[in-house]
Amino acid sequence: MTTHASGTVYIETYGCQMNVSDSELMYGRLAEFGYVAVGSPDEADVILVNTCAIRDHAEQRVIGRLGELKRHMKPNSVLGVTGCMAQRLGPRLLKSAKHVQLVIGPDGYRALPSLVEGARNGVRASSVEFDLEEHYEDFRAQRFDGVKAWIPVQRGCDYKCTYCIVPMTRGPERSRRLLDVVREARGIAESGITEITLLGQTVNSYNDGQHDFAALLRAVGAVSGVRRLRFTSPHPNDFSERVIDAMAETPAVCEHVHLPMQSGSSNVLKRMLRRYTRESYLDCVARLRSAIPGMGLTTDIIVGFPGETDQDFEDTLSAVREIGFDDAFTFKFSAREGTAATRMPESLTVPDATASKRLARLIETVRDGMRAQNLGLLGARREILIEKVSRRGTLLQGRTRDFRTVLVPGDDSMIGQYQTVELTGTTGSTFTGGVVSERLQLPVAV
Ligand code: 5AD
Ligand code: SF4
Repeated sequence: MTTHASGTVYIETYGCQMNVSDSELMYGRLAEFGYVAVGSPDEADVILVNTCAIRDHAEQRVIGRLGELKRHMKPNSVLGVTGCMAQRLGPRLLKSAKHVQLVIGPDGYRALPSLVEGARNGVRASSVEFDLEEHYEDFRAQRFDGVKAWIPVQRGCDYKCTYCIVPMTRGPERSRRLLDVVREARGIAESGITEITLLGQTVNSYNDGQHDFAALLRAVGAVSGVRRLRFTSPHPNDFSERVIDAMAETPAVCEHVHLPMQSGSSNVLKRMLRRYTRESYLDCVARLRSAIPGMGLTTDIIVGFPGETDQDFEDTLSAVREIGFDDAFTFKFSAREGTAATRMPESLTVPDATASKRLARLIETVRDGMRAQNLGLLGARREILIEKVSRRGTLLQGRTRDFRTVLVPGDDSMIGQYQTVELTGTTGSTFTGGVVSERLQLPVAV
């Protein structure tokens, strides 16, 4: 349904790429009803904050931001909270933040236009029902990035990791139909975008009843114009031989895996209910690396999980050294209300000071490994896709297929192009480079 312009909307997004993707869907949904996207809350009739609940820190940031946004609201503007924190807190949020009119969980975005209309007429509401059929199939995501695109292929999560709030905020796992994903990928490629990232909480457990993740990779990888295909985040237990073969045999699939390890101690992994051991994680890495030579590998690690001993932590450090990750997101355990970890004996709690020290040592260990890997790459040549002007504004920022960031000189007409660069310098984490060939600017071979 399309109506005349109803107003302006601004969405601020926190958390993971699934949230970024959901915000694109919300913009798309509201656009159908005449809402025009704007770049700042001051101009907006409707302000939505799409939130994350993964750690307490993420929620505290949102609470602070909601207070600030009060000052940006016009007399009749609507402020809504969406996403994982909305789902977690539901009506409680309406009670505690009087200037918030809407609280909508991740499965409630279909009703967004009518809830917004209601709020504009003074009706505050919370919508936090799960809808296991909901994939927003008829929504047209409004994308703002012209170089790469995200496609959600699965919603929710069926693992029950004991630290994690996600099964409670995004509900049970369900997959979109392969044909729908392929249709969306075709549309994206036709719009000139050449890099696609498939999204799911445990994306490689994708199964639409007829197709597994291997079939999905092959099908999206075969779409004309898709030159780079990525996915995030996989679970180690769902890397079947079929999936690994599909990765290795599909030219578009990039040589990079983000594989959350969480801990290098089998004791901790067991209490986390990760369903793998240190050894089976190492085995998964070895299988991936032997099938995909030169693969980049990044991870997520939590320190200070209940019961984590000094020895457990040393096991994490040794796993980091042994594996040689190219990068890692590192976190201090944050107790989330309602998760199994909060029901563990209090005697297992790791003091905050201990967790902080461990985090600092872990970060140092990750950095050392990353620097060593990156120094070893100096002088090598890589193809990069130029994504944007770098944050400092003087160089362009691109990525290699194995997910390394490279800054190169150039002008913004080069955004969206593929270039071969030589890696000439490294800060330890990112590279600087110079373009060595124009050859790869030719149209994508399909
Ligand atoms: N505390 C700290 N980190 C967490 N993560 C998930 N839940 C928690 C928690 N309760 C981390 C995991 C996950 C990443 C997205 O966030 O490492 O992979
Ligand atoms: Fe945060 Fe997890 Fe929700 Fe993403 S799915 S927004 S990481 S809580």
